[in-house]
Amino acid sequence: MAHYQRIGNVPDKRHTQHRTPEGGLYYEELMGEEGFSSDSSLLYHRRLPSSITNARSWDLGDSQATTPNQPLLPRHLKLHDLFLDETWRGVDAVTGRRLVLGNGDLRISYVVADAPSPFYRNGVGDECVFVESGAARVETVFGAFDVASGDYLVMPRATTHRWIPAGEEPLRAYCIEASSHIAPPKGYLSKFGQLLEHAPYCERDLRLPRGPLLAEDSGVGVDDPAEVYIKHRGRGPNGIAGTVYTYPHHPLDVVGWDGCLYPYAFNVSDFEPITGRVHQPPPVHQVFEGYNFVICNFVPRKVDYHPLSIPVPYYHSNVDSDEVMFYVEGDYAARKGSGISKGSVSLHPGGHAHGPQPGSYERSIGVEYFDELAVMVDTFRPLELGEAGRAVDDGTYAWSWAGGKDEPPVDGAG
Ligand SMILES: [Fe+2]
Repeated sequence: MAHYQRIGNVPDKRHTQHRTPEGGLYYEELMGEEGFSSDSSLLYHRRLPSSITNARSWDLGDSQATTPNQPLLPRHLKLHDLFLDETWRGVDAVTGRRLVLGNGDLRISYVVADAPSPFYRNGVGDECVFVESGAARVETVFGAFDVASGDYLVMPRATTHRWIPAGEEPLRAYCIEASSHIAPPKGYLSKFGQLLEHAPYCERDLRLPRGPLLAEDSGVGVDDPAEVYIKHRGRGPNGIAGTVYTYPHHPLDVVGWDGCLYPYAFNVSDFEPITGRVHQPPPVHQVFEGYNFVICNFVPRKVDYHPLSIPVPYYHSNVDSDEVMFYVEGDYAARKGSGISKGSVSLHPGGHAHGPQPGSYERSIGVEYFDELAVMVDTFRPLELGEAGRAVDDGTYAWSWAGGKDEPPVDGAG
């Protein structure tokens, strides 16, 4: 985010002596994007941020591996069939993520968790985690968030943090891990970075971390050693590898920070939908973007009010994109009869024209309101299937517009 924030104990002048009450020095860390040429923040640590006492590989196995969508098919992936029979017990929201779809630009994973995660940072890119249901406290070096259903949490690359599920039900999270930064769409921003009047949300809708958050606030001491799990660029599948560092001190040792780079939360219910007399194209639903992808959300809204309008989408061939929709709440009119329901993901790949299921086109005429909530990711490079995506592919969605498929079965299509 381009707007400046300042939290906690920060010296008046940057890069000057910042003294502890005992007369020692705090250690200044610049966390900045694009070298020293883009947004950054200055963090003031009680201990050396670079001191590590051990390192070992974090074996990610095949968790980041993907297989091509071949033969090319639209697919329905039933995420709620993952973590069945309470297999989420003891699972955490970092190491328990299961990869649904991915490519070199981003990975989409899903997790159901009830256990605290280890400290973690993603050195590959920014993360945007959408909380489908449940709640969690997320502790970061910038401060803490309480997140719940409908929250996006945008976490800048290399931010040390951990997820602590809260409440009775498990946390269900849809995790978008980029290989780049994630930010509001450029078209929403002034030349100096303010969200413009036509944007569907503004700075007031963004929640900042509450801080500073220190080790003592978590019931431990600043000199208690801790491990931090790091996902980073390497030679593993999709160019990702893992390492675990041991620090001689606790990661929550930042007494203050200021700058324009920090995590923030945004609840999808604060997204003000843009509607029109005829069907509005997906860019009006955009909420964030990264390199080679966009994130959109479809929220409950009044729909098209031209007297001859057809509220569901026209058939469309996004010739440059793969389109992934995660159906979160409500009743998704365009997909009736396809088997898609809450917890479903549809993948509509580039090269295949898609649109409403049979009958939906006609049925939508005269409808005034769509009670639906969905998160969409459109990628410019093709998406491949992760382990979890393959495990919950319904195998029949591709034929749902035609009412069935011809035999013999197509290889790999179920
Ligand atoms: Fe579409």
